[in-house]
Amino acid sequence: MNMDYISGMSQNLQAFATPSSNPIETGGVHEAEFLRESLVAALEEMKVWVLLMSEHAKFIRLGLDPNPNQEEFFRIADQFSVQLESLHREVIQTPSNAPVEILFQLRERTIVMVNHLIQFKRTLFQLLEECKALAILPAILVDHIRREADRFVGTLERSKGKVTRNRQTLGIPDGQIPAETVPRLLYHRLSPAQLFKVGVEEVEFFSRIHSEHAEHLSMSFRPEVQENYRKTALFYKQEFANQIEQAKMVEQSGSGFEALASNGIKISTDFNNYLRRVLYDITTCTIPTKQTNFPPLLADHMSRETVYYMDILQRLTVR
Ligand SMILES: [Fe+2]
Ligand SMILES: [Fe+2]
Repeated sequence: MNMDYISGMSQNLQAFATPSSNPIETGGVHEAEFLRESLVAALEEMKVWVLLMSEHAKFIRLGLDPNPNQEEFFRIADQFSVQLESLHREVIQTPSNAPVEILFQLRERTIVMVNHLIQFKRTLFQLLEECKALAILPAILVDHIRREADRFVGTLERSKGKVTRNRQTLGIPDGQIPAETVPRLLYHRLSPAQLFKVGVEEVEFFSRIHSEHAEHLSMSFRPEVQENYRKTALFYKQEFANQIEQAKMVEQSGSGFEALASNGIKISTDFNNYLRRVLYDITTCTIPTKQTNFPPLLADHMSRETVYYMDILQRLTVR
């Protein structure tokens, strides 16, 4: 793969890397035991997100204008999709009791590959914004999948004890504050204050993500014939936008996270049911006109991201 035009950019990320000011408590367990626990926590994140990353590459591949000047972008996106799919197969075949060296090496390779993907998304987003690249894929969606990739690598780096992303990188309020990005399986190691911060950041991050999912769908149903689907999408766009405002108030006041999270679970459950119904109606060709102006996999992709978010909220509230 020709990565020359994005080479060097990934080194910029290293500038972010600072030792954690908010260390994860090892709880007195042996160092080797904590290392394995952190690697297994990273593996669990990889099981969900490496596949989603390969699908991002496919959505880019599908959404580019196929003019000859953009052949290279198409091929780069295709290469990412092939490589990430193969990495996903490796990840799901790796048991959590695999040798530490195997888990360590898998995590490192994932970080390197996804950091390259992040730079590709950043470059493409910039070119779309400047009208130097053409696509039916909205630029905002390229930025959206870049933020998801940054959060994912953030969780892997955090499993190594490093805080590498700030809130601005993840597109959430109070940009200069370092973002926690703690893998789900390490929550039990956090203090109540850390858990509160993790919770608020995840609600702000995923509420924006799901609001954008709903907005994108609202623009991708067919005018007039799929009006009901579009209106429902707009309803969820607003529901998740409200969640962001509520999360800001919870952070300011320092209380009310339980109510915020249980509301988040309710909205996400309803939104996920809607996505599953949309997917069913498309795959059974029962949606009016039998097709939509977006690929069916996108509804499934969004549904899995919603399920992941609900899992986070449940882990943070049922303790
Ligand atoms: Fe995604
Ligand atoms: Fe997404």
